[in-house]
Amino acid sequence: MTNNIDASVPALSLKMEGFEAPATIAMSMRARVLAAEGKKVISLALGQPDFFTPKVAIDAAYQAALDGQTKYPPIDGYVSLKKAVQQKFQLENNLDYGLDEIMVANGVKQILFNALMATLDAGMDDEVVIPAPYWTSYPIMVRFLGGQPKYVVCSEDSNFTLKASDLRAVMSEKTKWFILNSPSNPTGAVWSKESLLAIAEVLRDYPKVWIFADEIYEHLVFDGQQHYSLAHLAPDLKDRILTANGASKTYAMPGWRIGYAGGPKRLIKAMLKIQSNSTSGACSVSQAAAVAALHHGTQAVEEMKQAYDRRRKMMQDAFSNMPGVTCAVPQGAFYVYPGIKGCIGKTSAGGRKIENDQDFAESLLDEQYVAVVPGSAFGLSPYLRISYAADDAVLEEACKRIATFIKQLVN
Ligand SMILES: Cc1ncc(COP(=O)(O)O)c(C=O)c1O
Repeated sequence: MTNNIDASVPALSLKMEGFEAPATIAMSMRARVLAAEGKKVISLALGQPDFFTPKVAIDAAYQAALDGQTKYPPIDGYVSLKKAVQQKFQLENNLDYGLDEIMVANGVKQILFNALMATLDAGMDDEVVIPAPYWTSYPIMVRFLGGQPKYVVCSEDSNFTLKASDLRAVMSEKTKWFILNSPSNPTGAVWSKESLLAIAEVLRDYPKVWIFADEIYEHLVFDGQQHYSLAHLAPDLKDRILTANGASKTYAMPGWRIGYAGGPKRLIKAMLKIQSNSTSGACSVSQAAAVAALHHGTQAVEEMKQAYDRRRKMMQDAFSNMPGVTCAVPQGAFYVYPGIKGCIGKTSAGGRKIENDQDFAESLLDEQYVAVVPGSAFGLSPYLRISYAADDAVLEEACKRIATFIKQLVN
């Protein structure tokens, strides 16, 4: 019985029905329980940089606190941070935004939440087109805020990037948003300039559609690939693109909760109204840290990028050599997304029948103590999402255990 029909207890809202924590968190919680039991668990389930925040950012936060930057911060962000973001957009993305077209929030998560809340109407059949596999929070937030996720599959054959013709096939009069995430969580796919131009061509035919460009992994691109901002490649669409980014991944600052966005004034203003009535401005000293990271973090980013690149090659190599596994080369972010079709239908050493990627991930955790997230959580199965934001030695050990798990599968 749910709280909503049990009149004897205080009720939760109807929108909580079917509202779940992201699977990435569920997997790490399961891993934590096993670790508490003394098992030597390796968790590659969370998308969290393993590096320390650059010292220059920590020093700036400390100094800001000493200087009294501890009052309620402005809702849209301190001018110092907004100017740093403005300069970043100009220098790194060839995008010009006025200060009134920029806002700061508690992470890209809040940017997205504000944007969807400001635009979706419950009961109006508003659709949000999301390329799959997707970051788990996109559809959850869309549904929570009254919209309908509409998926468009990006298959392994096309390196998990979106074909313009597939996008066109799902766009309709009901489409309110299109969400683009390049480089992608969970696949590491990076959209090329050509594919972005083709996508822009489709979006031009739907002038009432907002576009959310989640560029949070923009600095993590490899193999000579380049990141392009859609708003730069298609300036005629800029007045309906919200370009979102943040400090979490680039500067190893997920706990500081700083995200920001550039977009049309009208949308930013609406998002700020929501923020002013919910969380208010982002943490004051975190904003000081983000200013320092944006101005002085380049060297740290380069060092982290080199480490990620080394690990990426190691992981891709390891998975390509596992029987029954396919592994597209991820060109960005810090994830691999190996396919495990060849393992489905087999039975694990612990006696569990592997019917799908959820079974695979659960028995891998129970039997070899490695936590990964099943592709079903991201909308494309049978795959696994594995974060390589971990120490090289830890990753090597994880690959060994996964290889052992696969080797022991029987028909
Ligand atoms: C694609 C994507 N967007 C946004 C976020 C959230 O970032 P933030 O820490 O800025 O809220 C994540 C975090 O995992 C992500 O993978």
